[in-house]
Amino acid sequence: MAPLILITGATRGIGFAAAAQLAARGAQVIVASRDATRAQLAAEKIERNTSWLTLDIDDPESVSAAAASIATRHGRLDVLANNSAVLLDHYQDLDHLKPETLAETLKTNVVGTLRISQAMKNLLEKSPAPRIINVSSGAGQLDGEPQSWAPAYCISKTALNMLTQQLTAAWPDVMVNSMCPGWCRTEMGGDNAPRSAEEGAGTLTWLALDAPHSLRGSFIKDRQAIPW
Ligand SMILES: NC(=O)c1ccc[n+]([C@@H]2O[C@H](COP(=O)([O-])OP(=O)(O)OC[C@H]3O[C@@H](n4cnc5c(N)ncnc54)[C@H](OP(=O)(O)O)[C@@H]3O)[C@@H](O)[C@H]2O)c1
Repeated sequence: MAPLILITGATRGIGFAAAAQLAARGAQVIVASRDATRAQLAAEKIERNTSWLTLDIDDPESVSAAAASIATRHGRLDVLANNSAVLLDHYQDLDHLKPETLAETLKTNVVGTLRISQAMKNLLEKSPAPRIINVSSGAGQLDGEPQSWAPAYCISKTALNMLTQQLTAAWPDVMVNSMCPGWCRTEMGGDNAPRSAEEGAGTLTWLALDAPHSLRGSFIKDRQAIPW
């Protein structure tokens, strides 16, 4: 049976590129977006093996509705790719960061990721080899020199990495990992990034279909574990 993969925020950028790669490999992909029209258009663009649903990970009702829809249509979920994120403080330094901006960033990048993961747990448990992929960033790495760029976003990705560790400890039968796509040319990454969205999506595709299920609780970039 083809693996069933839900990708959040998959109408553009790395999420869309991963959806196209996974569908081309024969997976059944569910493209999620807050906007129904964008979701439908993205699914139509991929053409095969793809369906869509509306999903706002900040909204408990939207998340419950998405879980109910997948339960009715499929009765299980094999891979949850938590790709959605916001970058709200691109050009801010810490002195100018509004605490409200940090709270808003954490709401989506961390709390929303927890919410959708909890909502999908029952469906993941119906899979013979369930996987969660948290799309994080090197911006959240504690290894190396402190970075001053986009503090709210960086803090949120560090917290997301700890969520990966917590999920790994709490749900031992689910393969949970964080990944960094590298700096990619997307709406978030801008035009100057060295990688295409497709290159960035390669690690997501690998974690969804190819990585051994024993790979758990790791931070992965280019198919290699990197320091937290
Ligand atoms: N681009 C890079 O250089 C880079 C580097 C490292 C890590 N990353 C990470 O890679 C992932 C994808 O990045 P990207 O560059 O492709 O970003 P993007 O083009 O800005 O896409 C992000 C997606 O997140 C979705 N989203 C935002 N808020 C949401 C919410 N409340 N509920 C559901 N979906 C929501 C949006 O979907 P809708 O508007 O359709 O709902 C949007 O399509 C992110 O986690 C990002 O942090 C990116």
